[in-house]
Amino acid sequence: ARPVTLSRLQEMKSEQEKFTCLTAYDATFTHVMNAAGVETILVGDSLGMVIQGQDSTLPVSIDDMCYHVAAVKKGNSNAFILADMPFMSYSKPELALDNAAKLMQAGAQMVKLEGGAWLCDTVQLLSERGIPVCAHLGLTPQAVHKLGGYKLQGKDQAAADLIMQESLALVAAGADILLYECIPTTLAKSLTEAVPVPTIGIGAGPHTDGQVLVMHDMLGANLGRRPRFVKNFLTDGRSIQEAFEAYVSEVKSQTFPAPEHGFNS
Ligand code: KIV
Ligand code: NA
Repeated sequence: ARPVTLSRLQEMKSEQEKFTCLTAYDATFTHVMNAAGVETILVGDSLGMVIQGQDSTLPVSIDDMCYHVAAVKKGNSNAFILADMPFMSYSKPELALDNAAKLMQAGAQMVKLEGGAWLCDTVQLLSERGIPVCAHLGLTPQAVHKLGGYKLQGKDQAAADLIMQESLALVAAGADILLYECIPTTLAKSLTEAVPVPTIGIGAGPHTDGQVLVMHDMLGANLGRRPRFVKNFLTDGRSIQEAFEAYVSEVKSQTFPAPEHGFNS
């Protein structure tokens, strides 16, 4: 298969073909995801939890991220690789540029940052320097202690309007993809229709252009409780590759996420 590029993802949005993303942290699972047709791979700072056993993503360092990005890059043939910028590695625009450069040199093709309008200066700087940016809004796990837990965001009209305004500002600043975590299904639909760039959702219903899940979660391997938006695809005697294939086919046919995986406002 031809390598997936940002322009291909934009084309898929305009053709209304849904695309998939899974997290990966090593070469082998990346290779199996390629074989299953997963278009994009996220080296998520969720590795703090699923790989390192931390109780949040806050302890993850830029060196931790680069180590896993390099491993994923080695196993990858054709997926588009996004990498998370960890907690406080983008607290100022110049620092963000230096740390994004490290991730890009390790093999990332796009960096992801959590936040809203305050990120615009940083997004603009990275974008001007040729670094594709994904902005992560809604439930932003690096802010878990400020948010008071992992819970639904954008519930009331004011909060929903703010996410809309911030999304448009981030796109104007140069964001190439917007990722929404744990927001109402109807809000994710409005956002996806309002912005010209592809959207990716997790706990955001079926209407975003792409879907993402943490690999361990969708293989039924959990340390703690399983969030509502997760589905275990490693069922019915499937191999791991077949579980990835089932995820791809259910996202394409819009059978995943089902209503029970999403949230009402
Ligand atoms: O780190 C991660 O895995 C993520 C996804 C859950 C979107 O940011
Ligand atoms: Na993350």
